[in-house]
Amino acid sequence: MSSELSPIDKAKFVAAKQATQYVEDGMKVGLGTGSTAAWLVKCLGEMVENDGLKIRGVPTSSRTAELARDVGIEVISLDEAKWLDLTIDGADEFDGNLNLIKGGGGALLQEKIVATASDQMVVIADAAKSVETLGAFPLPIEVIPFGWQTTKMLVEETLIGMDVLGRTVSLRMNGDAPYYTDEGNHILDLHLNRIGHARQLSLVINQIPGVVENGLFIDICDVVVIGHGDGRVEVR
Ligand code: 5RP
Repeated sequence: MSSELSPIDKAKFVAAKQATQYVEDGMKVGLGTGSTAAWLVKCLGEMVENDGLKIRGVPTSSRTAELARDVGIEVISLDEAKWLDLTIDGADEFDGNLNLIKGGGGALLQEKIVATASDQMVVIADAAKSVETLGAFPLPIEVIPFGWQTTKMLVEETLIGMDVLGRTVSLRMNGDAPYYTDEGNHILDLHLNRIGHARQLSLVINQIPGVVENGLFIDICDVVVIGHGDGRVEVR
């Protein structure tokens, strides 16, 4: 599967392939969203079809649900599963403490709920996602559409007191219209450049009325499987 891939796709593929080793027969598995997670879902689909792997998957987005069904994975809801053995998902950034920025693909809310409801979260990522300090990637926050411009102003005001290097907030767009998440919400992208105190920022942002959740995953990830363009894999 990996011979004709570009280096970046190869890195994502080898990380995903390696992470399938955490999956055991009978498990309930949270299935992440994004291009790296899509490789994982395809690899798991092959294992279901060729090796008789029996798992039930809880997708973190409508996109992932569709792909999982297409490749033959039994899909159940989180309410049916209640608790999961494992979630495997991608990330936009991870630091040395395995804290993450997620939500580049707009699925951070379901991703955080599903990862939190799992015994273990394994992140799969290409090596370019590794950072010393989080924040070069814009931090997505999910906000309800009602009064989103007021919520944006409150977020901007809150950022004044925070240990960050940039404070620009933009509404994520889908062409000429605002982007809508699977939950019918909007995304604000916070261009912070460097986040000094990620845990504090996460707590403070989630206090703002209108904010549903933010893309900082603090103390949620247990393992990061890092793929390289030459096919090497590291586990942290
Ligand atoms: C989606 C996410 C993705 O995991 C993140 O954006 C990484 O995506 P990709 O694997 O395509 O680089 O958080 O909400």
